[in-house]
Amino acid sequence: MTGPVLRVPTDDDAARWSALFDDAEVMRFIGSGEVRERAYYDGLVERQQELAEHTGLCLFSVVVDGEVAGFAGIHPWSHPWGPTGSLEAGWRLGRRFWGRGVATAAVRSAVDLARSRAVLRLVSMIHAENAASVAVARKLGMTRESVHRSPDGAPVHQFGLAFGSPVDVSTRRPVAVFPGRPPATAPSRRRGRGDPPRRAGRPDGSSPWRTRGGTRR
Ligand SMILES: CC(C)(COP(=O)(O)OP(=O)(O)OC[C@H]1O[C@@H](n2cnc3c(N)ncnc32)[C@H](O)[C@@H]1OP(=O)(O)O)[C@@H](O)C(=O)NCCC(=O)NCCS
Repeated sequence: MTGPVLRVPTDDDAARWSALFDDAEVMRFIGSGEVRERAYYDGLVERQQELAEHTGLCLFSVVVDGEVAGFAGIHPWSHPWGPTGSLEAGWRLGRRFWGRGVATAAVRSAVDLARSRAVLRLVSMIHAENAASVAVARKLGMTRESVHRSPDGAPVHQFGLAFGSPVDVSTRRPVAVFPGRPPATAPSRRRGRGDPPRRAGRPDGSSPWRTRGGTRR
């Protein structure tokens, strides 16, 4: 097996995610458990591209042996319940990629990337019966912090991972805490001819994390 490699999702990945996740078993512990329409993944990919451009982090496409296997990465928990505003580590793979350590390796890379971007803390929200996902969280060193009840009535466990306070050695002050200014580099996708021009920033200087209300997945 080569990979998993993380990259910012391309427009074409929306169709790949849609095909991989058009599976009741994959969606069993996510939201209401319903599979989503293709259009939902177009929006999800677009939001990840924007997040990556502004922050260097997003739900990345996970590539295994040259094939997209799903996503893993960091995005804001944007639901009105739970740890609203926190950064969540999230992961989801197509069923044929399960059971090979792919999720753990992919999320570990994303967590390392977040840490290098001065993220201080991550959460993961996991359905209480989602044993595979709980195992991934624990292998990453996350610990259970609290229990929530989703709007659908599902028991959802909040796992957390704190990195401590990174200090800028030149000033001895805590470094800026993400989300803030976008980092300089990120794993990137090739921009196509049909892509809109890059924006230098929002006119009002606001963060996409807040203005877009984050990522619903
Ligand atoms: C959760 C998911 C990403 C795990 O992917 P994966 O690549 O198989 O994960 P890994 O192989 O890295 O690790 C899975 C661990 O769970 C364990 N596991 C799997 N099924 C389990 C079960 N029913 N009970 C207990 N442990 C289980 C595996 O043994 C493994 O642990 P180990 O390495 O100590 O043996 C994958 O199952 C998935 O996409 N599920 C559907 C979407 C989903 O639930 N996403 C998470 C939402 S919070």
